Amino acid sequence: MSGTLVQQAGSLSLDIDADRLLRRIADLARIGRSEVTGGITREGFSAADREARAYLMAEARAAGLAPSIDAAGNVIVRPVHVSSSSTDRQALMMGSHLDTVVNGGRLDGAYGVVAALEVLQTLVESGTETRHEPVAVAFANEEGALFPQPFWGSMAIAGRLAGLPREPQDHQGRPLREALRLAGGDLDALGSAGWPSGSVAAYLELHVEQGPVLERSGNRIGVVDAITGRIVLTLEVRGAAGHSGTAPMEGRRDALAAAARVVLATENISRERGLCRVATVGRIDPHPNTPNTIVGAVRMTVDLRDTDVWRAATAEQALRHALDAIAAATGTEIEVVAETRSDPVSTSPALRTAIERSTDELGLPYETLPSGAGHDAQMIGDIAPIGMIFVPSLGGISHVPEEDTDPADLVAGARVLFRTALRTVGPTSYPSHQD
Ligand code: GLV
Ligand code: MN
Ligand code: MN
Repeated sequence: MSGTLVQQAGSLSLDIDADRLLRRIADLARIGRSEVTGGITREGFSAADREARAYLMAEARAAGLAPSIDAAGNVIVRPVHVSSSSTDRQALMMGSHLDTVVNGGRLDGAYGVVAALEVLQTLVESGTETRHEPVAVAFANEEGALFPQPFWGSMAIAGRLAGLPREPQDHQGRPLREALRLAGGDLDALGSAGWPSGSVAAYLELHVEQGPVLERSGNRIGVVDAITGRIVLTLEVRGAAGHSGTAPMEGRRDALAAAARVVLATENISRERGLCRVATVGRIDPHPNTPNTIVGAVRMTVDLRDTDVWRAATAEQALRHALDAIAAATGTEIEVVAETRSDPVSTSPALRTAIERSTDELGLPYETLPSGAGHDAQMIGDIAPIGMIFVPSLGGISHVPEEDTDPADLVAGARVLFRTALRTVGPTSYPSHQD
């Protein structure tokens, strides 16, 4: 294989290092782990997140690769160091995210990053020459757990700067500017993180399914055909704080009582009215949050999802009407202070075929399915054809400490990524990048 252009993955003897893959997943699982719950809290740009990114960079350097951090805080690992102006090959980008939700699992995101590094390292160590430059990326702040901008890093790479808040703050009003600087980024230079359209030949992301479909069917690999659209609204409910024992019920402007109505209205939009597939209030921060004071203000998030962009928009409209009615009925003000939109996207048919062929070669049963979770691939879809590979999630659960996948499936998924990457970087075997 060494020194040759790869034309086919079919008769391949070259393989990823399964032990190294699993060792890195286990190493990362110790960063930000709670001894009490076993869950992992590595919110984007937190100290634990920085530690995970430093780990990735150290592993990459030890492997002789060239990691760097862009202005948005993304970790980019290339085969050798190049300044962006001197790259003449298109990239095959692979990756996912290292940040987690609060008390989440060890695989959501980290698995895809480690697998991308593994594929890159295997290609480089074997001396495989490829038409496209393989690049592994850990996208910054995919979850938006601390700073309310999910897909922060992939949006910057895709050049979606207009969609990013100017001076983002976390839920306690702390500025992203400083947190980003500590992570090696630079808010004032965000534009430099963008990759021009055409610079990425293809993007591949390997991820745990996070749902029950593969476990139920018994298939080992999922070929993703579409990723759900998502609207996340951060709301501020403003009422009036006061003494819980002396303020009469009449005339109270209790922000938490209003927020409770928002929670039920959100659920109602999906469960009763069927306007979108799912609707969730996942975060709620009451102030001052003490037992004997009426809550004066609440920050909360509403997450609406559907694979049909019009249905999601209709659900949002219904929610906004409900917010007006709740504000009027409770004497509060309800303002949408931040919003994130990711449209549903389809994956590339050519990359789906490449994934299917790779899966067939490995003798693994697969099926095609949509993703109910959001992924950085959605943003990179603006500048490149995207492909996504899923492996089964035990019990179909994710964003909880119990999230898990059989190690054999983790290795199988990485092998599928490797073969798909070879098909994609090779000179002749990838049919078309234009869908
Ligand atoms: C991203 O992880 C999501 O919430 O779908
Ligand atoms: Mn997630
Ligand atoms: Mn994820």
